[in-house]
Amino acid sequence: MTYPVNMSIKPEVQAFFDEATNTISYIVKDPSSNACAIVDSVMDIDYAAGRITYDHADELIRQVQSQGLTLEWIIETHVHADHLSAAPYIQQTLGGKIGIGAKIMVVQETFGKVFNEGTEFQRDGSQFDRLFDDGDVYMIGKLPAFAMYTPGHTPACMVHVMGDAAFVGDTLFMPDGGSARADFPGGDAATLYDSIQKVLALPDDMRLFMCHDYGPNGRDIQWETTVGEEKAQNIHVGQGKTKEDFVRFRTERDATLAMPRLIIPSLQVNMRAGDVPTDSDGNPMLKVPLNRL
Ligand SMILES: [Fe+2]
Repeated sequence: MTYPVNMSIKPEVQAFFDEATNTISYIVKDPSSNACAIVDSVMDIDYAAGRITYDHADELIRQVQSQGLTLEWIIETHVHADHLSAAPYIQQTLGGKIGIGAKIMVVQETFGKVFNEGTEFQRDGSQFDRLFDDGDVYMIGKLPAFAMYTPGHTPACMVHVMGDAAFVGDTLFMPDGGSARADFPGGDAATLYDSIQKVLALPDDMRLFMCHDYGPNGRDIQWETTVGEEKAQNIHVGQGKTKEDFVRFRTERDATLAMPRLIIPSLQVNMRAGDVPTDSDGNPMLKVPLNRL
């Protein structure tokens, strides 16, 4: 697959860090119009209290409105397991199309079973406005963007490239953070290695924007690097580390990791494009399947 890389267009990227989940959301503005996209928004949840709120999403909405931008796309790099998407909430106010990788159907099939969803839960991705295949091109105003299929962390992960800026989702972390885990259902370390090589094959000066940062070794939170820096310094895949090295390391490491705190609510909401499931009376309601994850 040859991707339509265009380094001459440099979108304005604004980052919004969510302290509760270490997620970075982005507003990406077309430099030659008022069109923008939001990548990986966050809905706030107090899981202990069963309460959802929208402070983080409201800030994104406020920024889009105050800058006079038109929201054309609400992009999910994948079905997140560590935070809930605010895509429908943002769409209600600002419009825009919600897009995710076409392999979302695999994720819906897997977790439809885990959560014992009935037939009313569609497993065809129809909750989303657009399902991207590898290499699909779309426009943000006059800014051309494309989706690059990068499975491994999940079967539906995609990196979205907008001009000289790539939103890597959960493939790579900052060079000192390494890479994302590959042990969720449908994840695979060897597949993740191959996907990361696709990212590293982009031009060296491509800007890379992380979905997460945990400030390893006590450093301040960071979210932006480049392909060149990742190739030179990434602790899991840089300096030509082999696939065998990576798979061994990743598998051993993943076996030590606890499940993300919000995986149970996140999957149920995010596999529905951010909609909260309801019980038979229409009340918003989440399940907790025992001993399944
Ligand atoms: Fe993730």
